Amino acid sequence: MADRKRILSGMRPTGRFHLGNYFGAAINWVRQMDVYDCYYMVADYHGLTTQPDAREFEQQIYDLAGDMLAVGVDPDRCVLYLQSSVPEVAELALLLSNVTPYGWVQRTPSFKEKARQQPDNINVGLLNYPVLQAADILLVKGEAVPVGRDQAAHVEITREIARRFDRIYGRRVFPEPELLLTETPLILGTDGKQKMSKSIGNIVGVTEPADVISKQVLSMVTDVRRTYRSQPGHPRSCNVCALYKLFFPDDWEVYWEACRKAEMGCHDKKKLLAERIVQTFAMFRKRRTALSNEEIKRILDIGSARARDLARQTIAETRAAVGLLPGL
Ligand code: TRP
Repeated sequence: MADRKRILSGMRPTGRFHLGNYFGAAINWVRQMDVYDCYYMVADYHGLTTQPDAREFEQQIYDLAGDMLAVGVDPDRCVLYLQSSVPEVAELALLLSNVTPYGWVQRTPSFKEKARQQPDNINVGLLNYPVLQAADILLVKGEAVPVGRDQAAHVEITREIARRFDRIYGRRVFPEPELLLTETPLILGTDGKQKMSKSIGNIVGVTEPADVISKQVLSMVTDVRRTYRSQPGHPRSCNVCALYKLFFPDDWEVYWEACRKAEMGCHDKKKLLAERIVQTFAMFRKRRTALSNEEIKRILDIGSARARDLARQTIAETRAAVGLLPGL
């Protein structure tokens, strides 16, 4: 493992996966285990910036980690951990915050967006969000961060903080982590308009029971120009057809043609798609059902202990660079 590049990625505990999380993040987490020394984390401290009571999202932590494990994130081939079980990250965030100019965090797009979304709760944690994320990455000395485009600004600020820290203290402590942009097909939600997102409520699940997935798929908005079954469809502008490309990689064109010729109706296509999704993820669903919260917690604890060993070394080095007394 020593010669492999180290990467770190994290997700806030938003609960079970939907197709967007799966194709956007999880699938990459699984593939990257073959190539990199991987640290994957459930970012519960970050969750507190929007929901101050962690009890409110406890089950979502288990569901996120459980789904990760179910789709193939293998705790023997990566370090899967819970952010708050490695509290050294908070100390590192504090030490980094002193070398982070206010203007940098204030300008972060995610801060501006959150401030708009929750005008009654613009807390300092929200402002400090990118510094905490930088601490996540630098605590394990991550050399690259695989994330989607929406996280690019956070990786950039991490690079700037690392550079500035090393300059101010005159030693090389941190790597400047690269952005590893993950290729993500844009997955629209069941409304066919907006990106699939739990907060919008337009999702299709992955490890959910078959009847839940069927219901979600059957609720999808299709080709709005097609009012009757006998009319030809326009697969290019239909979100159900878009998903055929992902779930029928070898013969989606046959189904697109059947749609254009009105041989298949929208309902037929949704039914078939629902069956296919359920079948594709059957193994994941089975594995997820077999995982209890206790088992997930046990796996997270093992990963957290490993991450913590590394964290302690980084903290010792950071404290020395800053010139703090060694402590106890
Ligand atoms: N901010 C990320 C998100 O909202 C989650 C996250 C927290 C993260 N810490 C991280 C991602 C470190 C990459 C690296 O998706």
